[in-house]
Amino acid sequence: MRLLVNSRDMGDTVKTHKWSRREFVGMGAAAAGASLAAKTIVRLSPDPIPSPQAVSASDRVRFGIIGVGMQGSWLLSESIRLPGVECAAACDLYDGRHLLAREIVRADLPVTRRYQALLDDKDIDCIVAAVPDHWHKQVVVDAVNAGKDVYCEKPMSHSAADGVAMVDAAKKTGRIVQIGSQRVTSQICAKARELIAQGTLGDLTFVEGWLGRNDPTGAWQYPPPPDLSPRNLDWDTWLGSAPKRPFDPNVFARWRCWKEYGTGVAGDLLVHLVSGMMFMLGLHQPPTQASSVGGIRRWKDGRNMPDVHAVIYYYGELPVCMRLNLGTAMPETYRFQGSKGVLEVTGSSLSYTPQTGKDSSPSYYAGSFPRAMREAYVAKWHQENDPKPGEAPLLETTAISGPDYDDVRPHLWTFFEAVRTRNPVVEDAVFGHHAALACHMANESYFRRGAVSWDEASKTIKG
Ligand SMILES: NC(=O)c1ccc[n+]([C@@H]2O[C@H](COP(=O)([O-])OP(=O)(O)OC[C@H]3O[C@@H](n4cnc5c(N)ncnc54)[C@H](O)[C@@H]3O)[C@@H](O)[C@H]2O)c1
Repeated sequence: MRLLVNSRDMGDTVKTHKWSRREFVGMGAAAAGASLAAKTIVRLSPDPIPSPQAVSASDRVRFGIIGVGMQGSWLLSESIRLPGVECAAACDLYDGRHLLAREIVRADLPVTRRYQALLDDKDIDCIVAAVPDHWHKQVVVDAVNAGKDVYCEKPMSHSAADGVAMVDAAKKTGRIVQIGSQRVTSQICAKARELIAQGTLGDLTFVEGWLGRNDPTGAWQYPPPPDLSPRNLDWDTWLGSAPKRPFDPNVFARWRCWKEYGTGVAGDLLVHLVSGMMFMLGLHQPPTQASSVGGIRRWKDGRNMPDVHAVIYYYGELPVCMRLNLGTAMPETYRFQGSKGVLEVTGSSLSYTPQTGKDSSPSYYAGSFPRAMREAYVAKWHQENDPKPGEAPLLETTAISGPDYDDVRPHLWTFFEAVRTRNPVVEDAVFGHHAALACHMANESYFRRGAVSWDEASKTIKG
């Protein structure tokens, strides 16, 4: 049986259903005997975003956006469609993005190159920040110190030290900080978390995750805006704390390629795998140890961050292996492996294949016994292990798939709701710091060519 779980309402054919573990596992078994049931459609839990009428005018949240580039423009477009959420102003160092922000929101939206203007504005409740990684710390620390809640894009930090400063600032001010790894709000990941917590996998033995791309855009060779120049861009401020260098439109558009501004495939892509895994497993810690291999194997365009990066972690005693490749395309996938089976998770599907963990036939080692001994062993084995008629275990893969769906929108909604209600978010500064540390450790190990560990006492990565 194929079990479809859709995140979108598909009308009357869709049934909302909350599963118990027995039901979930039992569905595969029931299906084996049910020749007529070709397909069951089950909807995931209802969309958490209410209708616009459900939010009163007094509950309105006004945000300012800092960074209206590739991701910021998406966050802006999504945020203003959420009920009770309004954009009050936009900030970017490149004037072309002022125009873009006005095209998205309204023609008279206040725009500025100075984000401090947004932080000083008492009518702005919170900030959405989508600036390059090397600016995350300063924007978040300044925002919370100015009394603003902040949604900051992933990876939370550009370095371990930046992350420590951000956690301190968030704790000291008590502001809400949510990091933008949207897997944490994915309904697919929530379903995986539920199954794992119910013990569906038995003893968790190993976790794998991977993702690959194979095209210039996937490898960050983005086209700079054709009119970009120091006249319409504040290049010195864009560089921030990075070493000074002459204006370079490629650096502006392709900053992920260089460690001075970005965090490589680790901070760009691995952080999603790690954040999703932390959420699905309920992990609240950085890796204990990380060991990487990789290289610039395909995109020899002057970048200094690897385009192939594989890392093996210990999370406590749990081994985890994550592989990123910008030279060969592979869909983002996790495999959670346990004594009772394998759970495969992609962006829009789950697939659980149970395993008994027991021998299904007499041990082949008995082939080394002399005949009489072997035959006695085989007969005894069958007597003790053959299932009685009708009791044979049914080990069917249960596949759950839905259409690709956008988890950014509910992730933003979670943040704006927290700003309204003051309830804590899941992906807070501590969570974001732990996930980002996994990326910094992966990079540190790659550059050192040796294993590294996180030292909580000194809050540093040690070789
Ligand atoms: N969650 C996701 O799936 C996802 C996807 C893409 C990008 N991101 C993250 O979003 C962030 C932005 O990435 P992007 O691809 O949009 O980058 P981008 O270069 O397209 O846009 C960044 C914008 O920030 C502006 N900026 C830089 N410093 C600034 C400052 N001090 N004040 C005001 N504006 C400033 C730049 O001028 C630029 O317009 C990164 O952290 C990235 O990792 C997340």
